[in-house]
Amino acid sequence: MTTPCLRVENLNVMYDVGKRKLHAAKDVSFEIAPGETLGLVGESGSGKSTAGLALLRLIEPSSGKIMLGDTNVATAGRRELQLLRKRMQMVFQDPYSSLNPSMTIEQLLTEPLIVHADMAASDRRAAVGKMLESVGLHAGYAARYPHEFSGGQRQRIAIARSMMLHPDLVVLDEPVSALDVSTQSQILKLLKNVQAASGTAFLLVAHDLAVVRLMSPRVAVMYLGEIVETGPSARVYDEPAHPYTAALISAVPFPDPVRQRSANRIILGGDLPSPLNPPSGCRFRTRCPFAMDICARAAPPTVQVEGGGVAACHLHTEGPKLGGRSLNAFMRERNIGAMEVTT
Ligand SMILES: Nc1ncnc2c1ncn2[C@@H]1O[C@H](COP(=O)(O)OP(=O)(O)OP(=O)(O)O)[C@@H](O)[C@H]1O
Ligand SMILES: [Mg+2]
Repeated sequence: MTTPCLRVENLNVMYDVGKRKLHAAKDVSFEIAPGETLGLVGESGSGKSTAGLALLRLIEPSSGKIMLGDTNVATAGRRELQLLRKRMQMVFQDPYSSLNPSMTIEQLLTEPLIVHADMAASDRRAAVGKMLESVGLHAGYAARYPHEFSGGQRQRIAIARSMMLHPDLVVLDEPVSALDVSTQSQILKLLKNVQAASGTAFLLVAHDLAVVRLMSPRVAVMYLGEIVETGPSARVYDEPAHPYTAALISAVPFPDPVRQRSANRIILGGDLPSPLNPPSGCRFRTRCPFAMDICARAAPPTVQVEGGGVAACHLHTEGPKLGGRSLNAFMRERNIGAMEVTT
């Protein structure tokens, strides 16, 4: 990988819940190359939004490094953070609430320019028109207000707004999950086009695995605040190396004949444990069909996986000693087909 656009190292985020601490992002580490899309998946409450918000310091991390190029966002002072925010932007799930309803589209799109750039009013107006057209909207819409647009159009406006300063990185937090299916595919196509034209890196947070596979050559999987596996999407989806990834993927019917032929299904029982009181050792062990004694005693080591990426699971070094091979290989060897797990 060339110098990453973003390198996150051991990022931790704690929420105060009454007198207790909720460790919502625990030692999160990953990299995104310039112009690359990294998908971030995991079930509801796994900490995806927390991690995304912390990257931009929209919530304060308690520790860790957030290197945007050569600058550590985590330790930046107020003035430096203002400059860094030119370079990183966020698009939220809900285009209804993320756009200020009392501002025109032109005001919404020029706001980042006024705060950050010295530009003549006529140049600003031209930049807005150009940006609107590049997201598939008429430049003449600039005088209208957000309520005059459909959900898909509003998300186009939010994307346009995020791109006004040509950022290095945009965090997209569930950018299409509030939209109907046909609008979803239009917005995903738009995001691909915008990225191809701008070279901006994306962190795509989504719980829809099919969306992430379509959009992201690389993916990171989160469980209860921790990244349990990362790697090239093709490898992670077809040959997961962590039982949680395998369970997440086997629960989704993919329109892909290769996946449908796979007999390995892991059905997860039980709910996510309370993040206020996570299991000792491996946080996934209470729902893991392969849990061993050591899983309760020690945090799992992070191992390199054949075909790319890493997984944090004792199975690779203890018990069956997978040694970086996929879980499918293990299940095939032991003739484990469909298995249902209830906790
Ligand atoms: N402001 C907050 N104060 C306290 N706890 C919070 C806060 N925001 C989130 N949490 C908790 O932190 C954990 C992670 O939440 P987060 O919203 O990051 O998950 P997520 O993966 O984005 O979920 P979803 O898919 O539902 O959006 C959850 O247990 C959640 O209840
Ligand atoms: Mg979220």
